[in-house]
Amino acid sequence: MPKLTYVPTGATHDVPAGASFLEFCQEQGVDHPFGCTVGSCGTCRCEVVEGADNVNPITDEERETVEMCTDVAGARLGCQLKIQGDVSIRPVD
Ligand code: FES
Repeated sequence: MPKLTYVPTGATHDVPAGASFLEFCQEQGVDHPFGCTVGSCGTCRCEVVEGADNVNPITDEERETVEMCTDVAGARLGCQLKIQGDVSIRPVD
């Protein structure tokens, strides 16, 4: 089972392969910011600091939203992430 580490708290959780990061946060009470939950507001932007290959590839729509809200290279939207292997994730400004 993949392991997800949420960097701000340092907590590591087991997650089912293919799990949604959004649903994981809601179910586990992880305090990551979310807004629209559908990939358009950018509130949930984050960085996969380890295991970037262990999440679903970014789509053109997700990339457009990311580019509107941060300059951090490789940033993703937490509401669009599916966890497929071990990852460490942190929010980005
Ligand atoms: S919560 Fe709005 S883009 Fe993810």
